[in-house]
Amino acid sequence: MYVQPADAPQRKPVTVPGLRAMKARGEKIAVLTCYDASFAAQMESVGMDVALVGDSLGMVVQGQSSTLPVTLDDMVYHTRLAARGLAATLLIADLPFMQYRDPATALSASTRLMAEGGAAMVKLEGGAPWVCEVIAALVEREVPVCAHLGLTPQSVHKLGGYRMQGKTEEAAARLRGHAHAVTEAGAELLVLESMPAALAGEITRDLPIPTIGIGAGADCDGQVLVCYDMLGITPGHRPKFSKDFLAGRGSVREAFAAYVEDVRAGRFPGPEQIAR
Ligand code: KIV
Repeated sequence: MYVQPADAPQRKPVTVPGLRAMKARGEKIAVLTCYDASFAAQMESVGMDVALVGDSLGMVVQGQSSTLPVTLDDMVYHTRLAARGLAATLLIADLPFMQYRDPATALSASTRLMAEGGAAMVKLEGGAPWVCEVIAALVEREVPVCAHLGLTPQSVHKLGGYRMQGKTEEAAARLRGHAHAVTEAGAELLVLESMPAALAGEITRDLPIPTIGIGAGADCDGQVLVCYDMLGITPGHRPKFSKDFLAGRGSVREAFAAYVEDVRAGRFPGPEQIAR
């Protein structure tokens, strides 16, 4: 069970409707991925708004070459661990590959992530009509949904690699259409990954729901990074849009605190992290 450090800020829990209120007030939303109770407790203690148990854990925790082998059991396990470190930070968990292929599968997987894992919201990738049908079915049954567009890692084989999306006018138009479609289906939050900053900014201004960018410029309503990337401990190459927040600082907690401050002040991402 999480015990707040004596110097931890007392704050109200971050809620799903509260995210939309943050957008309305122009407050940036700070999000990091999180896979266990110790990291979760550090995030909680610096006032992180959202912790995301991403299926990126397949790559950064399990050492696999993609997110595809991550199972629902893996996700439930790590979500439960992260939940034990949190109090006011909102917890979101990814639905893994093929666990939302139809509404019934998505409902039973979401039940596990929320009831066993303690997630307050589930995330799924894509904006095609069948995904919107799944989103609508979840939302109708009181499961809050975060959508994810742009570079959707579960589609890595179809996309041909981890590449920026939405670079042609046709691809950008498709992403704009998907952003509106997931919103109309009932998504309450939208991750925009690896797309031109101007496109992400335009989608952010057009939608009533908050957008959370990763490699999508500075104009999203919030930012997310893979926590191991922003601590500089991901083996191999760190994405250009990420930043090592541990460099020059004495602890993981200080790195998380600096990230929250920089996101809230609009200092992250800076010009060095934004692809042109
Ligand atoms: O799986 C994950 O960590 C994610 C974030 C990078 C957005 O989906």
